[in-house]
Amino acid sequence: MDLGLKDKVALVGASSKGLGRAIALGLAGEGAQVTICARDVDTLEATAAEIREKTGAEVLAVPADVSQPDQVSELIDKTVDQFGGIDILVSNAGGPRAGRFADLSPEDYQDALHLNLLSTINLCRGVVPSMKARGGGRIINLTSISVKQPVDGLMLSNMARTGVIGFAKTLASELAADNILVNNVCPGVIFTDRIKQLATVRAEEAGIAYEEALANMTQDIPLGRIGDPTEFANLVVFLASGRASYITGTTIQVDGGMAKGLL
Ligand SMILES: NC(=O)c1ccc[n+]([C@@H]2O[C@H](COP(=O)([O-])OP(=O)(O)OC[C@H]3O[C@@H](n4cnc5c(N)ncnc54)[C@H](OP(=O)(O)O)[C@@H]3O)[C@@H](O)[C@H]2O)c1
Repeated sequence: MDLGLKDKVALVGASSKGLGRAIALGLAGEGAQVTICARDVDTLEATAAEIREKTGAEVLAVPADVSQPDQVSELIDKTVDQFGGIDILVSNAGGPRAGRFADLSPEDYQDALHLNLLSTINLCRGVVPSMKARGGGRIINLTSISVKQPVDGLMLSNMARTGVIGFAKTLASELAADNILVNNVCPGVIFTDRIKQLATVRAEEAGIAYEEALANMTQDIPLGRIGDPTEFANLVVFLASGRASYITGTTIQVDGGMAKGLL
């Protein structure tokens, strides 16, 4: 299937590792020009080199912290300068710290809102003018299964990410006339550093081995295993493509069947 992504310009947030990296690689593999970003410059440059080598795509690597509005503006300006505009935004950031109500300070809540809600809003504000000028676009917000089913011990994720869903649903209606399609994607348990970090926290809390904590994370997954980042990226690449031309305002999980609700 030709996804129609050749020479499209994609900006992928938080993409030196994990899900963002897999999405950038997937889009570049379909012929898109890609901007990646993260805070650690060495890892970012290494990932950019790897994507160029594997796909032959043009990759721009911009060191940026997406929780900082001025760095988001710079990231978007550099992408437009390099590629002439933006067709696809994958909004993504690192995960907020794990913790329960009793563990968290007011600053923790503010930090999570900056990292996981306001970063999305700022990225969208920055790219929409270019998408309108180019006759349309795709916005895909990376959230979490926590928006469908709150995850125990992840108060900040459960709190901040639901705001993204309300924002995106409203944006999808407002931007439909401009042919800009907005959707959210929700990873369940996909094997990245974030999952290693959560398994470490749970192992410490429960006084069990890391391997046992990791195995426990598969207990509620009907497919019986943790997902691979490429399995998650495949959905995002499709939603970014010309083939997903009648899908907007949705929130779709990639979770091996983990979410128990009907929708
Ligand atoms: N993996 C899962 O199963 C899963 C499930 C639910 C939700 N999620 C969410 O999905 C998102 C991606 O997770 P992941 O599993 O890919 O995590 P990961 O493997 O830890 O990768 C995180 C990436 O984000 C970058 N990053 C972190 N904070 C950033 C910031 N403020 N600005 C720019 N880049 C930043 C990191 O690089 P630097 O540290 O160098 O900046 C790295 O490239 C997170 O929000 C996570 O909570 C993941």
